[in-house]
Amino acid sequence: MSCGFDNVYESRNAAEELRAQINHHDYLYFVLDQPEISDAQYDDLRLRLQTIEAHYPELITPDSPTQRVAGQPVAAFSIVEHRLPLLSLANAFNSDELHAWYRRTCNLAEVDSFALVCEPKIDGLAVALVFENGHFVQGATRGDGLRGENITENLRTIRSIPMQLRSDHPPERFEVRGEVYMPKAAFERLNSERADRGEALFANPRNAAAGSVRQLDPRVTASRKLDIWVYQLGWSDSARPPTHWETLNWLKEMGFRVNPHIVRYDDLESVKRHYLEWEEKRHQIEYEIDGLVVKIDDFAVQERLGYVGREPRWAVAYKFPPIQGTTKLLRIAINVGRTGSLNPFAILEPVRVGGVVIKQATLHNEDDIRRKDIRVGDTVIVQRAGDVIPQVVGPVLSKRTGKERKFKMPPRCPVCGGEVVRPEGEAMRYCINPSCPAQAFRWLTHFVGGGAMDIEGLGEQWCAVLLEKGLVEDPADVYFLTREKLLTLERMGPILADKIIANIEASKKRPLARLIFALGIRHVGSEIAEILANEFGSLDKLAAAGLHELSTVPGIGPKIAESVYAYFRRQRTRRIIKKLKRAGVQMEQERARPKGGPLRGQTFVITGTLAAMPRSKAEELLRFLGASTGDSVTKKTDCLVVGFQPGSKLQKAEQYGTKIMNEDELVALLRRHGLRP
Ligand code: IVH
Repeated sequence: MSCGFDNVYESRNAAEELRAQINHHDYLYFVLDQPEISDAQYDDLRLRLQTIEAHYPELITPDSPTQRVAGQPVAAFSIVEHRLPLLSLANAFNSDELHAWYRRTCNLAEVDSFALVCEPKIDGLAVALVFENGHFVQGATRGDGLRGENITENLRTIRSIPMQLRSDHPPERFEVRGEVYMPKAAFERLNSERADRGEALFANPRNAAAGSVRQLDPRVTASRKLDIWVYQLGWSDSARPPTHWETLNWLKEMGFRVNPHIVRYDDLESVKRHYLEWEEKRHQIEYEIDGLVVKIDDFAVQERLGYVGREPRWAVAYKFPPIQGTTKLLRIAINVGRTGSLNPFAILEPVRVGGVVIKQATLHNEDDIRRKDIRVGDTVIVQRAGDVIPQVVGPVLSKRTGKERKFKMPPRCPVCGGEVVRPEGEAMRYCINPSCPAQAFRWLTHFVGGGAMDIEGLGEQWCAVLLEKGLVEDPADVYFLTREKLLTLERMGPILADKIIANIEASKKRPLARLIFALGIRHVGSEIAEILANEFGSLDKLAAAGLHELSTVPGIGPKIAESVYAYFRRQRTRRIIKKLKRAGVQMEQERARPKGGPLRGQTFVITGTLAAMPRSKAEELLRFLGASTGDSVTKKTDCLVVGFQPGSKLQKAEQYGTKIMNEDELVALLRRHGLRP
């Protein structure tokens, strides 16, 4: 396939132009949250750049937008010495302490007052980003303040970190600092997917962000939806503005994501008012903050004040009170999830925590309950972090009376009495009765819910009624509801019925990833659904995929592959898919992943062992070039790659006259296209 340019010089110019455009649109989308072009137009720009880079790999630059997700795993992080230490902050836990800090600082600086910049204290992890001639060259964790870990490749995957600055004259070399964090919604989603997979949960978004940024495989980091707020200029080779406030504006102009809630005040009283406002407002923003950082604006004053130990005298963390409380654990109840999972949760004596009354809290799973030694009747610590579901942190052991009872999971499903199993290696037990009403209800509400088919008007109450009246047995039946059927329900009027029918109709056109997610396959959350939709492009192809094919998709582990494979082999699944098809639900990727690449349209199969790389790697590289890969040789197979000790596929290929290639030829092919296996 041609990339449209006859020579490398033209291509270089075109690639540069495309990079500038993509960077600009990334900035509009990820930093300003104000996109100007459609996703399709954006994808088109990226595809054009990828095509050029596949033809002329020598044109790939480390900060090309295409390199944000392509990084290779590393064995360990190298160590970076910070040119200027990353400091921590002294805390003030109430307004008296804040006041004391202010007075002390005024005395030391020999002034009566100073201007202050108030910033949200983001609950994430500090990073230091180095830029050279306008390009991002290095990113590191704080570490011990003097030495951190080099996590450059992982940070490239955070799309709001500029790879190239938007300024013609940035300092030749400088470092900015900021906080990498995980938005609350992403944290919730990640944890619920981990719970589904029986994996350990992250305690809070900060741990999740830290765990994600320190992944040896950048592709894992890329899947974690991290973001950054830049809050400080570290060091710089050239002159800087005279105040912190002006510096933040300057950083913003260069394309950094600077928090919009940062304000500058001339007096301390305004800071206190601001704090009181934010004690409430903190729950309304999409990331966690645990206080405010109050900084002296004037760099000259900052310099005069200097440091004590690891803490600057010119800033203080004005912390919010923690949102924990203690109460009595009355009972442990079980809620049956859509996949049949038995989820234990705590029924509590109502308690006010951070202005909200908590009556229930999650307990994750039986292992977690045992690990924390939580017993019925215990006085427990409960914690609320923003909008996330309250959690039981653990028992207050000093309050034990001896009357507390250890908890045992019920041997049968508490809703239908059906058999319960705990698959090996998983933390959850599942009810395996396919007609368990609790599962049917959860599945239906999941199917019609926001992240799935998104059928507005069909809330939980209507779902329950539809199941109860037998109008719906499984989610696919929703597509056979009619206005007349709906009107037989109590309290259903013609206007609502029409609206629901119209919404059901509209939901038939949801993207494939949403449909896959809606099916409620165990271990398939929205991110995995997205990967599967992109990889297979249609539900039929996904349903037909072999176990090996599934498990070689990047991002799909063996557990997910097995779950997907088993799901599509069930009689019941087949029936549902048939119904969905009959109803006209869209089952193809509306806008299939632009499958560019020089091997587009060709199918490769590999047999035997390869010397240079695992088979899965070879398949991944072939797919990167646009080829599809298969498990078995069919008439449609274009090429069979034969390694050491090939299997029966070789005879099949000879029989069909399929083109056969040895490993050396495969390596040469990959190299021709700029890949180094
Ligand atoms: S300024 C000396 N600004 O809080 C200046 N830090 O407890 C220290 N943090 O390590 C950094 N939001 O990870 C600053 N707006 C903000 C911040 C912030 C969060 C973190 C940062 C630092 C820790 C100190």
